[in-house]
Amino acid sequence: MNADAHLNLEALNHAALKEAMGCFATGITVVTTHYKGADYGMTCNSFNTVSLDPALVLWSVQKTTASHEAFTNSRGYTVSILGADQEAVARRFARGTSAERFAGLPVTRLPTNRTVIDGSVAWFDCVLEKIVEAGDHDVLIGRVLEFASTPAAPLGYVHGRFIGLGS
Ligand SMILES: Cc1cc2nc3c(=O)[nH]c(=O)nc-3n(C[C@H](O)[C@H](O)[C@H](O)COP(=O)(O)O)c2cc1C
Repeated sequence: MNADAHLNLEALNHAALKEAMGCFATGITVVTTHYKGADYGMTCNSFNTVSLDPALVLWSVQKTTASHEAFTNSRGYTVSILGADQEAVARRFARGTSAERFAGLPVTRLPTNRTVIDGSVAWFDCVLEKIVEAGDHDVLIGRVLEFASTPAAPLGYVHGRFIGLGS
């Protein structure tokens, strides 16, 4: 096999792997932190719960993202679980600069200085407990300090598309 053919095969396998992983339906969150006086946030669907006692959650941050340094050094993060009507927020936090993402967006600042996205159906404010290096991502395990939830319908994501999840 020549080098080009090998590259094509790798790209195809990568696409197939992404497609297979995209069969797993998730919720959609915006994860935020506050680092060196600035707010950071990104759309994230790798969030999951880990343990009830102690209360632990996790998500994984891609090492190449601009906010990787902020999330791995700021000692904590806040997860806002987006509602079915917040697809625009999910799109906003997956592009542009941090300043553009937060501009004009209603948020609530917590005692930890991190922000919750207003209108989210639930949120968890967490202290960063452990970083597990895993391939091209770092898994950030957090211990829940404070949280709240509502019965509103969450936003979902499957096959690369956003979907409203009814209750
Ligand atoms: C639906 C969806 C889910 C995403 N989930 C994650 C995730 O779990 N981890 C991650 O690092 N990036 C994830 N991203 C990509 C980030 O939101 C995107 O790369 C963001 O622009 C990174 O911002 P930054 O480079 O300013 O740090 C996701 C994007 C979308 C649209």
